[in-house]
Formats: sequence, C-alpha cells, structure tokens
Amino acid sequence: MSAKAYEKPDFWSKKAFSEGYPARSVYKLKEMDEKFSLFTPTARVLDLGAAPGSWTTYVLRKIREPGKVVAIDLSPLDKALVSPLLTFFQGDLCSPEIRKKVKAEGPFDAIICDAAPATTGNKTVDTARSSGLVEIALWYAETLLVPGGNFVVKIFQGGQEREHLVKMRELFTSARGFKPEACRTTSFETYLAGLGRKSFS
Ligand SMILES: C[S@@+](CC[C@H](N)C(=O)[O-])C[C@H]1O[C@@H](n2cnc3c(N)ncnc32)[C@H](O)[C@@H]1O
Repeated sequence: MSAKAYEKPDFWSKKAFSEGYPARSVYKLKEMDEKFSLFTPTARVLDLGAAPGSWTTYVLRKIREPGKVVAIDLSPLDKALVSPLLTFFQGDLCSPEIRKKVKAEGPFDAIICDAAPATTGNKTVDTARSSGLVEIALWYAETLLVPGGNFVVKIFQGGQEREHLVKMRELFTSARGFKPEACRTTSFETYLAGLGRKSFS
C-alpha cells in the first residue's frame, strides 16, 4: 500500500476529528480501557510517547483532581491541549534527564505507552527498536507504578512479545497481549497489558 493510501482518513480518523481528538489512536486506548478498566476517576497517569495527544486528551476527559497526567514525547503536544492537570516534558523517554523528571512526579496509578520508533521499513530493525522502548516503559512500570496499578504498552509484532510478557507476569497479577479493533488492518502493532501491579514489600 502506498504512503498516500495509508494517510487517507478512514472511519476512525474522521470520528477522532469530529470528537475533538488530535489522532485516531484514541480508540485503541478507549477499547483497552473499556476492556481492562485502566483508570480510576482520580488516577495519576504517565503517558509515554504522548504526541500529538489523543490518549492524553482521553485521560484528561476521564479524571478529576487529585488525578493528573504526566506526558512525555520527543515532539510537542497539540497546542490546544492545555489543562491544569497536565504536565508535559518534551524529550527522550529513555534519557536519564527525563527519567529523573518523571520520577519526581511519581508514583502513578497507570502507565500507558504508545511510543513508536520512526520506522525504517526493515522489520527486524523496527521490531528491535520497538522492543527497546517496551523495555524502558517496563522500567517506568517497575519503578513508578503503585501496587494495583495498570500498564499498557505498544509493541511491533514479531519482536520479543513473549519475553516481555514473562517479565510482566512477574510484575502484574495478570498480563496479556491485546490487538484493538482500531489498529489499521495493515499495521503490525499490537499492545501488551499488565493489570494489577504486584506489591513486593
Ligand atoms: C503513535 S505516536 C503516539 C500517539 C499518541 N498516543 C496519541 O494518541 O496522540 C508515537 C509517539 O512516540 C513518540 N516517541 C517515539 N520514541 C520516543 C522516545 N524515545 N521518547 C519519547 N517519545 C518517543 C513519537 O515522537 C510519537 O509522537
């Protein structure tokens, strides 16, 4: 399929636009939230790979104080996305600087990660990079999630889903893969969900 065809607005893109979300990806999170009940009404949420901000917008519409969203991305969020409950750090989620800033904002009740590497077209390279981002997201989950907290993370299929799920089953009461309906049929992305962070104290 050509890049042009890929960019063509589909049902989900049009729906996102009409409902005031900056990207169609919101419906993947909505589906996972409906299935797994990811957020309490006052949840403190860390959103990794947040731009342009449809997942952030979805969470901000669901929560109230003392809940909050801390969002991280290499790129800025949509300019219209302003809220007293939102803190945004622009930078690399893998960097020590960003980890330190996020740590100071924790702990969190939910961590959601839709981060995706810039694709090269080489599936081996792309899946390895995606898997690397999952490892870092898991570091955040291990370090900053409260007991009982929930986690979802995007991964490119064909990478190390099994290995990550093994690690997630150590950290969470349950862990499984889930492919939302709203994923493009041609996309090789999928999600891993870890529910109920175990307490180790
Ligand atoms: C699919 S988009 C996220 C869409 C977002 N969930 C939304 O609903 O608007 C993936 C994002 O991951 C970000 N990203 C990829 N690698 C990153 C990294 N190392 N640090 C921070 N952000 C990263 C990209 O800049 C991109 O904005």
